[in-house]
Amino acid sequence: MSAVLRPLEQPQARLVLLGTGTVGSAFVARYQALQQRQLSLPSLQVVANSRIALACEDAPDAALSRARNAQRQGDTPIHRQEVGRLRAGDIVVDATASEAVAADHAPWLAQGIHVVTANKLGNGTALARAQQIGTASAAGEARYGDAATVGAGLPLLRSIRALVAGGDHVHAIEGVLSGSLAWLFDRYDGSQPFSACVREAAAAGYTEPDPRIDLSGEDVRRKLLILARAAGVPLEADQISVDSLVPAALAALDAADVDAALSLLDAPLAERLQQAQSQGLKLCFVGRLDGQGASVGLRALPQGHALAGGSGTDNRVAIHSDRYNTQPLLIQGPGAGAEVTAAALLDDVLNIVNR
Ligand SMILES: NC(=O)c1ccc[n+]([C@@H]2O[C@H](COP(=O)([O-])OP(=O)(O)OC[C@H]3O[C@@H](n4cnc5c(N)ncnc54)[C@H](OP(=O)(O)O)[C@@H]3O)[C@@H](O)[C@H]2O)c1
Repeated sequence: MSAVLRPLEQPQARLVLLGTGTVGSAFVARYQALQQRQLSLPSLQVVANSRIALACEDAPDAALSRARNAQRQGDTPIHRQEVGRLRAGDIVVDATASEAVAADHAPWLAQGIHVVTANKLGNGTALARAQQIGTASAAGEARYGDAATVGAGLPLLRSIRALVAGGDHVHAIEGVLSGSLAWLFDRYDGSQPFSACVREAAAAGYTEPDPRIDLSGEDVRRKLLILARAAGVPLEADQISVDSLVPAALAALDAADVDAALSLLDAPLAERLQQAQSQGLKLCFVGRLDGQGASVGLRALPQGHALAGGSGTDNRVAIHSDRYNTQPLLIQGPGAGAEVTAAALLDDVLNIVNR
């Protein structure tokens, strides 16, 4: 079945989902659950991945399942073809990690098409792209829903934007922004090598298939960029110093060889843990932005520190501002996982259609 948008008798927002992986699948499951609860949702017309686009008819789960198992069809970029059929007021949900899709966010907004995204490559890479997205959504009616990009829908971005809109001045933002690294340093107590914890996290689905993406700090850098820009700080990616946990010898390997070489992580991290424990401190992987600059890396924090609390994959973020100048505003909660991410995407979709 090829994807053809159904003609509508009266204009009503239509939805196209790009990405049928972990998050895209959770999105379809939640979409159908909300439909059963009689929530008024835009019609999900097409689900697409990099290989195929399929019309949903009345069974998005069946289209999703066929798309996940499909062979590649032709060379035309699927996302361009499908979104090209949309009109102003329709909604694209980006549940990919695709650079090519993120590059289209601003042009889609400029055409009046709303963009809701879990993909951090829109607001979390080059400043010029983030500014184009901001300008395109400010100039017209189309909205940019990015609640799923940081903290999987925890009220982080919206709190920062509300403070700024209320005239507050944000001085510093610091946080444990990676659910997988939060889990790893909660788990790692020296009773087993760090590499064993990484394998455990990978088996539970907490890390990317290549765990170097988490361990390098790149994901946290993108999240810190998104938070900084929401606070009105025009930060470039290279203004953040990133202290990667991945030794050069591990970074140089092909993805297929990484698992066998994970033990390269063990000695340096055992030393960091031993140093921290000897002073009664806890290791946390933190992104921080303040008047002095921006950094991402491992820190040893006192047990009572705001960022040392929580457990599992909890994200924890402290916001220091004029209003919150003696004690920071603290936001903590589950900030990783497909279900909460899909819920954040659907919150943004509903915000757009119900505004
Ligand atoms: N997993 C989580 O818990 C989580 C949490 C928060 C945010 N996120 C973010 O959510 C996004 C999706 O994550 P995921 O874990 O679902 O990834 P995933 O399982 O790898 O799925 C990615 C999907 O994107 C599709 N895709 C790639 N390029 C495309 C294109 N040009 N047009 C249409 N579809 C395209 C892929 O299609 P093919 O299969 O054909 O390649 C695949 O279906 C990422 O940006 C990730 O950082 C994930």
